[in-house]
Amino acid sequence: ESLLFTRVNKDTQALPISIEDWEQKARELLPDGPFDYIAGGSGAEETLVANRSAFSKWSIVPRMLRDVSQRSLRIELFGQQLKTPLFLAPVGMQAIAHPDGELATARAAAAAGVPMVVSTVSAHTLEQIAETMDDAPRWFQLYWSNDREVCASMVKRAEAAGYSAIVLTVDTVMLGWKRRDFRNGYSPLREGKGLANYLSDPVFCSRLSEVTPGNAVEEVLRNIYHPTLNWSDIEFLRQHTSLPILVKGILHPDDAKIAVERGVDGIIVSNHGGRQLDGAISTLDSLPAIADAVDGRIPVLLDSGIRTGADVVKAIALGASAVLIGRPFMFGLAVAGEKGVASVLDTLINELDVSVALSGSNSVADLNRSILFRS
Ligand code: FNR
Repeated sequence: ESLLFTRVNKDTQALPISIEDWEQKARELLPDGPFDYIAGGSGAEETLVANRSAFSKWSIVPRMLRDVSQRSLRIELFGQQLKTPLFLAPVGMQAIAHPDGELATARAAAAAGVPMVVSTVSAHTLEQIAETMDDAPRWFQLYWSNDREVCASMVKRAEAAGYSAIVLTVDTVMLGWKRRDFRNGYSPLREGKGLANYLSDPVFCSRLSEVTPGNAVEEVLRNIYHPTLNWSDIEFLRQHTSLPILVKGILHPDDAKIAVERGVDGIIVSNHGGRQLDGAISTLDSLPAIADAVDGRIPVLLDSGIRTGADVVKAIALGASAVLIGRPFMFGLAVAGEKGVASVLDTLINELDVSVALSGSNSVADLNRSILFRS
């Protein structure tokens, strides 16, 4: 049965198909503040644009006559079997897109078998999100805190709630310069939309003179951007968890080497979706040198700009073990809640399957640079 046939019969016709269509629908439905916050980048948005154009610089040179009837998108990461090489990137404050926020996303992710990386600044607590997922795979993304004991506490809670890896985001030592948000006067963090994990944290709350959302916002703002963050903080994290630790936001091959030397378990090549340093290299452009520097010693994941199945093929062929998507699922969430996230995932997974087959491969593990041409 052809995929096209199933799609038409699945009553998906009313829902958008491409990520661009989802984005367009989200723009129609959301007020400017939340839409621009989600879709926008920092500065002149050069990196936001570069993240996409980098994919157009590579073409797939497919192989033929290879019997691609027995395909699998499965991968193994940190001993865990995963259905596909797709992850949902950590995205904070998802209630700005849909009232169910992370809970809707978590249900869709669990149903698809796509791991969700839950953000520190979620609108629901990490425990509430975990409860909706049964034993579906999930990781926890940590924003460092000036108070290391708050980090230790959140990591312990994540372990207890069944999260199987910790992602430390390292590219937010200051908040990126977001012109669209300045124009709209919009700051969901300041409005208290991402406090759930803080207000439910005993160590964090013990630091407040009085536990009120207003006090919590001020304390979070004092904590979350953390210019002193450095490699010794990773050692502290290592002492407080036995879970795999990934650093998210690596772009330089020398940093990738240091990460390996420091005993980090995985790297996420990311420029935060073009939301932090404008003018930064696109992630696809930085991937080959990082993959060479790491040389297979630890997994290298990538995000920022993935929008199609072919994008996933290119990233994996250039050395990524898996990829994460951010805005695409947020547009789905904004338009149709859980159903929207499910549909975006369904589209990407099916597109990936077709792209792997038409590239002449039976599995994502077979993809390598021999099928890529840089124009
Ligand atoms: C993010 N991102 C992010 N990253 C992180 O580590 N913690 C977070 O809380 C957030 N929050 C967040 C909010 C919104 C609205 C967006 C769009 C992004 C970055 C995210 O994890 C990822 O790096 C990018 O979204 C990937 O790029 P694409 O797929 O959006 O192009």
